[in-house]
Amino acid sequence: MKAFDFVILGSGVAGLTTGLKVAEHGTVAIVTKRKPNDSNTAWAQGGVACVTSAEDSFELHIQDTLTAGAGLCDPEAVRTIITEGPKAIQSLVDLGVHFDERVLEGGHRELDLGREGGHSKRRVLHYHDTTGREIEQRLLDAVARTANITVLEDHMGVDLITTGKLGFTTEDRVVGIYVLNEATGIVESIRTDRLIMATGGCGKVYLYSTNPDVATGDGVAMAWRAGASIANMEFIQFHPTCLFHPEEKSFLISEAIRGEGGKLVDAFGREFMARYHKLGALAPRDIVARAIDAEMKRTGAKCMYIDITHKPAHFLQERFPNIFETCARLNIDISRQPIPIVPAAHYQCGGIKTDLNGATTLRGLFAIGEVACTGLHGANRLASNSLLEALVLAGRCAEGLLKPKYSKYHNDVDLPEWRPGQAQHVDEMVVIFHNWDEIRRLMWDYVGIVRTNKRLQRASTRLRNLQREIQEFYWGFKITTEVLELRNLCTVASLIVDSALARKESRGLHFTLDYPDMNELHFHRDTILKRY
Ligand code: SIN
Repeated sequence: MKAFDFVILGSGVAGLTTGLKVAEHGTVAIVTKRKPNDSNTAWAQGGVACVTSAEDSFELHIQDTLTAGAGLCDPEAVRTIITEGPKAIQSLVDLGVHFDERVLEGGHRELDLGREGGHSKRRVLHYHDTTGREIEQRLLDAVARTANITVLEDHMGVDLITTGKLGFTTEDRVVGIYVLNEATGIVESIRTDRLIMATGGCGKVYLYSTNPDVATGDGVAMAWRAGASIANMEFIQFHPTCLFHPEEKSFLISEAIRGEGGKLVDAFGREFMARYHKLGALAPRDIVARAIDAEMKRTGAKCMYIDITHKPAHFLQERFPNIFETCARLNIDISRQPIPIVPAAHYQCGGIKTDLNGATTLRGLFAIGEVACTGLHGANRLASNSLLEALVLAGRCAEGLLKPKYSKYHNDVDLPEWRPGQAQHVDEMVVIFHNWDEIRRLMWDYVGIVRTNKRLQRASTRLRNLQREIQEFYWGFKITTEVLELRNLCTVASLIVDSALARKESRGLHFTLDYPDMNELHFHRDTILKRY
């Protein structure tokens, strides 16, 4: 049986940074269900929000974060993560990560800071519009140089093994994990007493998403089944500007384009954001996404547009090479024509409830990055705060993991072997793909940007039936990545619906026509779900 001091699930910024920080204290496995750079991090365009300029201050960044979070941020989490940001950025720079700079008069250089919705200052460090790719690559290079780290690619976590599940009467804690090795089709048991969930979010639970295919909510689903508390899953952030094109379904048009003066317009070139918010196209994301949704519904249009044609082609090519080239390949010259866009699911603001060391309510289980809910985002995440959170929490989690409070538990538990189901029948695969589509469409139609009780109830009933069907499948047949992802997707969809039904008000990203106002008296609190 494989055994590691630290098992990390996920190979984005959160998982890789934690792995690098704990590797000198023990053996580390980084388990990743596809290739290591198949992560949400690698797709991040905007950058990392961090106070680095003399014109900015921690207080302003804190205030912007609290405002976006619509009263639900944890002020201590906000202050800690924002004030520890510069140190976390320095560790990236030490690893060789580049951020764009600009040359001032006299030849001095300073960071070229971007601006995004909800930020009162320019404070987003970026590398062109491929910041995530740059960070991911440097972290992977460092991992490759680190002897104590084993990367298990094409391996997917199935379920946590806990003392409770094994029937022990002592305190419930993690003692290992079942992992599907895709190459062999065998489910292996890995022993560990410190498991770090860094699996990212669940964008693929919706029909339209800016996320890569790997974002199927695996971490939240596994933690839920193991009994950890899950918080605020109703707050799913829809990015206002996903490219609308049949050949590129998940391509993001970064908010940084609006930071450079990009205007939101309809098919006739008419701006509409001034009718919705005083900050216009740079209003917080929930407001912009709802405004676009409302304009599309009002006019029957299939999309709206973002117009950056006031900027010269050479500027756009240099600042946004990825967007410029992707659009050009699709015959959209962004220096001459507006870019068609629609809102799409982008970020999970809730997740596995953690403290500021990434510790969850289940002993031995830690969570960092999008999969976690630290309290930073509240009811709506401020743009580019997520990479910041992942970096700071990875450092804090690594330190926490070495503290006596979490230090090694004498784990000599015999992990039972996985009992595989029966052989898989090819004709049943159609059920899996059908259920995948059904979940994603029903979430889009009934649990999207604007919700109602009736739609949520409908989604809940349908998901319960699907859950039963998927469970039968899960126990009856040999498991595959598709079956596991479908099971997780359905679990996470249900958690989103249950949380949305529990919040009888509108706040931040959760907007329902049945309770259109904020209710400070009864709902100024997190939504916490716990299985047992
Ligand atoms: C963007 O570039 O618009 C995305 C940034 C983020 O979601 O934080």
